[in-house]
Amino acid sequence: MGSYLLIVIFVMGSCVNCGVLNYNIATFSQVVDHFNWNINLTFEQRYLYSNVYWHADGPFVVYTGNEGNVEGYWENTGFAFEIAKQLNGYILFIEHRYYGHSLPFGQKSFDHDKIGYLSIEQAIADYAVVIQHIKKKLGATENAVIALGGSYGGMLSAYLRFKYPNVVDAALAASAPIYLAAGLANNHSFWEVVTADFKAANEQCPSRVQTAFLELKKLRDSGQLVEISKKFRLCSNLVSDKQVDYLIGWIRNAFASMCMGDYPYSASFFGNLPANPVNVSANLIMQAEDALEGLVLGTGLFYNSTNNNTLSCFDPFTEYYFCSDPTGCGLGPNSLSWDYQACTEILLSSGTNNITDMFAPLPWTLDMRAEYCLKTWGIGQRPGWFATSLWGNSIQSASNIIFSNGELDPWKNGGVLESLSDTIIALLIDGAAHHLDLRSPNPKDPPAVVAAREAELFFLKKWILSARENHKII
Ligand SMILES: *[C@@H]1O[C@H](CO)[C@@H](O)[C@H](O)[C@H]1NC(C)=O
Ligand SMILES: *[C@@H]1O[C@H](CO)[C@@H](O)[C@H](O)[C@H]1NC(C)=O
Ligand SMILES: *[C@@H]1O[C@H](CO)[C@@H](O)[C@H](O)[C@H]1NC(C)=O
Ligand SMILES: *[C@@H]1O[C@H](CO)[C@@H](O)[C@H](O)[C@H]1NC(C)=O
Ligand SMILES: *[C@@H]1O[C@H](CO)[C@@H](O)[C@H](O)[C@H]1NC(C)=O
Repeated sequence: MGSYLLIVIFVMGSCVNCGVLNYNIATFSQVVDHFNWNINLTFEQRYLYSNVYWHADGPFVVYTGNEGNVEGYWENTGFAFEIAKQLNGYILFIEHRYYGHSLPFGQKSFDHDKIGYLSIEQAIADYAVVIQHIKKKLGATENAVIALGGSYGGMLSAYLRFKYPNVVDAALAASAPIYLAAGLANNHSFWEVVTADFKAANEQCPSRVQTAFLELKKLRDSGQLVEISKKFRLCSNLVSDKQVDYLIGWIRNAFASMCMGDYPYSASFFGNLPANPVNVSANLIMQAEDALEGLVLGTGLFYNSTNNNTLSCFDPFTEYYFCSDPTGCGLGPNSLSWDYQACTEILLSSGTNNITDMFAPLPWTLDMRAEYCLKTWGIGQRPGWFATSLWGNSIQSASNIIFSNGELDPWKNGGVLESLSDTIIALLIDGAAHHLDLRSPNPKDPPAVVAAREAELFFLKKWILSARENHKII
């Protein structure tokens, strides 16, 4: 997430996990409104699949797509293929409605009277229906089903198991901040962990970043917007104080993305990042001639590498979209859908404060959010609905779910960090960023992620075995 879950920028031709497995693309004629029989509309929902590992009684390994084109998840979730290989599974990745090419009303999908069919409840109903459809088509109605996903996709895997245990037998919810999204976790934690990650890379780094923001504030307070623009190599000069706030949001967004994508090898999931981007960025920050220059270089690492180091100047207004998610919404049409989701059910972390984090103060209060969402989408708030509908932090009655989190991941404290029963298992993975465990095994993986994947396979195997026994009893 950050584009939550997600600035998810997929760059063609440079994906690390590509070439591993080919996919087939298909569409399913999906109901637009599962909860109103008077709406007689359908849309084409995309899914990707492969049966190369499948044996007739093997489970379905289903990725619950999140806020981007489904191909991006296929290319960055190699562990799904490992699971399928080991368990003779059928691989299925389903695209989330209102993202990628699964737009119920084409380009009109974002209109006020059309966007309302975008909700988590509709999305997981879609997944339940597609899974049942495919199982039936293949004559595999009794086979077990494993759901998995990362970030918001991990939340969806868990919710799918919560709400449709008749369809899904087990779930792997990686880096899924279900408590935070429901407004039930420490709201400052995201930026606190970002700050801690940079501190771990270099003890002095956070104080240098604070110094840089103070210099930025001095320039702003003395009206030197042209000087700020020059210093940050902006394509056009900032013209108002408000635009300095935009610049701060753009800076934070880079730090958030580098922490989420802080993988031990280069990857193109959050932009095109080098291996260990937090260390690389922290080094740039520390080695620059002055603190502000360091902030420019440390931020530029993200935006420039995302564009393959081809930028002659930076343009915060096209490189970053200020939205309802203070960790970023990504870009393009997908970002509109995410903005809507972070205005409705999903309540994301607060802004920065220069107290519990190293960033310039840029608040994001409930009132600011409500005002933004009313202005942008013409909608009001329903506090508490999400926690009621999707269980908030009262999830003890669920079962067969693994919640994994990376120790470096800014989202970790919003998730389930303690096992709640023998079948609600929490794994905290040392040295891992945002759902590293879902990626293809790599020689550079820290030992903890290798162990986490083993544990995940162990539980999934166990749970689908008992699912089969249940089927037999019935
Ligand atoms: C609604 O769907 C049914 C079944 O597909 C179809 O027969 C019927 O004509 C549709 N009604 C309207 C008003 O489109
Ligand atoms: C987090 O923020 C939300 C919305 O601002 C608020 O309802 C909630 O009480 C906050 N939670 C904590 C733990 O501060
Ligand atoms: C990052 O830098 C710190 C401090 O130099 C070092 O201890 C750590 O091992 C580095 N991490 C990686 C993954 O290179
Ligand atoms: C951050 O906090 C420090 C310590 O309170 C303060 O001196 C500084 O002015 C603050 N920086 C900004 C950018 O507000
Ligand atoms: C982006 O990287 C290239 C190659 O290192 C460099 O020449 C260029 O100045 C960078 N762009 C900006 C805006 O910093």
